[in-house]
Amino acid sequence: MGVPTLDSLIAKGVRGKRVFVRADLNVPLKDGRITDDTRIRASLPTLQRLRKAGARLIVASHLGRPKGEAKPEFSLRPVAPRLAELLGCGVSFCDDCIGADARRKADELGDGDVLLLENLRFHEGETKNDPDFARALAQLADAFVLDAFGTAHRAHASTVGITEHVADVAAGELLESELAHLRVVREPERPLMVVLGGAKVSDKLAVLEALAPHADVLAIGGAMSYTFMAARGEGVGSSLMEPERIADAKRILDAAEASGRTLLIPTDHVVAQKIEDGAETRVVRAIPDGWMGVDIGPETAARYAEAIALARTFFWNGPMGVFEIDAFSKGTAAVASAAADASATTVVGGGDSLAAINQQGVGDRITHLSTGGGASLEYVQGLVLPGVAALER
Ligand code: 3PG
Repeated sequence: MGVPTLDSLIAKGVRGKRVFVRADLNVPLKDGRITDDTRIRASLPTLQRLRKAGARLIVASHLGRPKGEAKPEFSLRPVAPRLAELLGCGVSFCDDCIGADARRKADELGDGDVLLLENLRFHEGETKNDPDFARALAQLADAFVLDAFGTAHRAHASTVGITEHVADVAAGELLESELAHLRVVREPERPLMVVLGGAKVSDKLAVLEALAPHADVLAIGGAMSYTFMAARGEGVGSSLMEPERIADAKRILDAAEASGRTLLIPTDHVVAQKIEDGAETRVVRAIPDGWMGVDIGPETAARYAEAIALARTFFWNGPMGVFEIDAFSKGTAAVASAAADASATTVVGGGDSLAAINQQGVGDRITHLSTGGGASLEYVQGLVLPGVAALER
């Protein structure tokens, strides 16, 4: 059975019905101000369609990882006025996501009205997928829409548990669109080129294992590369690396070779002695003792860009170096530019890669910018996302 769509839910009639929308409004905040509202904007199409159809909207999300405690710095309250501005209507706010006050506020909504609930993760029942908490959420609504793609890989009460207690469920527009675009990476037009970056092999082990034999070309960047270099017996100086993952890196290199795929690791590097602004840098092939790799070198960046230009499908997640520091950001910027210039279908996920794309101002030249980091990695490696599976049930 497929995932029930928003179209089918709206066709059944939602006017006057309380629809609980699980969105991913996990936006970055600084001193209580939203510094990037991409995720709020991405949630708008579903909310607008439901409003237009006369639904009474109860919008819920997590923000950060408050670990079951009501910590003010993780409050969703600052999101309400921004959501109101973007939707062009009032958005009321409830200080708790369950309980008598939330039920009263949900019941008082008129057709097309919007209520935003406080952070779901202020209750530990959320991440534990506690059935009582899921039932308490379900009491607020007649129908449930999962639109939180970025959280669909979590089996939580608001993504999975709630579906057992609400008669009507559907996938939102964002969730549907994310799955459709990421499916292109699972079933690509070839050649498929993948660039994976980031600090740790251990964070990306599963996706590396899955994509090494799947991608025609897999290129690795970021501090992960130094573990791969060590697996090839190359010196890495004092670069960040994981000795306990060398065997895994070797297995991944061997798997790529055995399946006839190409796995690229950096052949030159930007190195420094300290990770700080203004530190002296050098471009080297072999990393000297006392120096650490902080970015891929220009030759590597050019090689990766060439492979991106030849691809029909391109997927990127993770920076090529410590890109927050200007002098160490050129490799990541080169991948962002190559993605923008590519004739391939291009899909980019993960906060750092998206930040690099935005820094370059090339977002409109990328086929799909995923709002989910972990979720997009799980989906492209062929895993079933628990939130999606729950909708299918
Ligand atoms: C994200 O930021 O990737 C999503 O909002 C999920 O957050 P989480 O990793 O804390 O579950």
